[in-house]
Amino acid sequence: MNKLNRSLLLLMAGVGIGPVAAAVSGAPLQAHVRKQPFGATAEKGPVELYTLANGNGVEISIMTYGGIVVSIKVPDRQGKLGEVTLGYDSLDGYLKNNSPYFGTLVGRYANRIAQGKFSLGGRDYRLAVNSFGSHLHGGNRGFDKVVWQAKEMRTPKGVGLKLQYVSPDGEEGYPGTLSVTVAYTLTNDNELKIDYLATTSKETIVNLTNHAYFNLAGSGDILKHEIMINADRFTPISEAFIPTGELRPVKGTPMDFSKPMAIGARIGQKDEQLIRGNGYDHNFVLNRKDNSLSLAARVEEPTSGRVLEVLTTEPGMQFYTGNFLDGTIKGKGGRVYPQRAGFCLETQHFPDSPNKPNFPSTVLKPGQKYATTTVYKFSTK
Ligand code: BGC
Repeated sequence: MNKLNRSLLLLMAGVGIGPVAAAVSGAPLQAHVRKQPFGATAEKGPVELYTLANGNGVEISIMTYGGIVVSIKVPDRQGKLGEVTLGYDSLDGYLKNNSPYFGTLVGRYANRIAQGKFSLGGRDYRLAVNSFGSHLHGGNRGFDKVVWQAKEMRTPKGVGLKLQYVSPDGEEGYPGTLSVTVAYTLTNDNELKIDYLATTSKETIVNLTNHAYFNLAGSGDILKHEIMINADRFTPISEAFIPTGELRPVKGTPMDFSKPMAIGARIGQKDEQLIRGNGYDHNFVLNRKDNSLSLAARVEEPTSGRVLEVLTTEPGMQFYTGNFLDGTIKGKGGRVYPQRAGFCLETQHFPDSPNKPNFPSTVLKPGQKYATTTVYKFSTK
């Protein structure tokens, strides 16, 4: 990139005096963290927005309310920075609107638990029923709606933000005091790395994820994005969006993304699962040998050349194509989000695992450590 482009890129990214001066003199940009007030919630007081910037001009903003990823700006193949995630410009947007979990940290349990019921250690538990007769994304006041304690991080790999929250015993109906740490790192390799850690005081269930919506073109819908999902099987759903328990091969179905395919190529097919999901809203059983960090998906947007790769230690990933967006939300810069304005790749354990003995367990016991990692890596082609 020449000096002029680099300076322009910096000005567009709105970085401070120091790094701009560095860019003009041709020196590499410095990774840094910027903290700013971002309003307040009536209950929990002030909210801060932290912007992580790396040496390549990538900027990611995260706020303490809901641990929400508010903004992700990455270059296209021409080096032009653009917003690739959905959300609002202000805290008020998130508080006043019924936000469809834009960029949120999701807990204690990502996705659905059938009828909000599960049993553990001989006891029956009841959770809020907040979606199609089931419990969704941690309930009425999940981790997406609490204010997290934040600490800036600087590591040789990049800059980051460590968020902490202690969920009291019984919160939203879940047993045990759950101490949660989520570390977001923006690496020097243009990755958003998310490390989730949790411990509990009593036997409980946990399944954490992030609910960022991506649109690598930065506008319109996501139907022309091409996606590869590293999964030979998926978990089909009932009419109530609950996995039936089957692990069904994707082969020969519109769920087969083992080779890159436009998201929109088959989304309108009269397929039972696509009809039930109103599009793609399914958990994929990731191909993996062990629980090391491995490739779950790769998405390419042909016009901008932007590429997103998702790596995870998790066994599953919810591929959700923003089917419930309906053009009523005015998001960033007044942009109206039509149906399928964004897609989510929510790495996770499978939905309704507490009621599905054949699914990998989501039980966490005292003395055990819940530790998972997911990486969203941005590049261009
Ligand atoms: C779920 C969808 C739900 C959406 C909420 C996704 O994780 O799978 O069914 O509507 O979150 O925005």
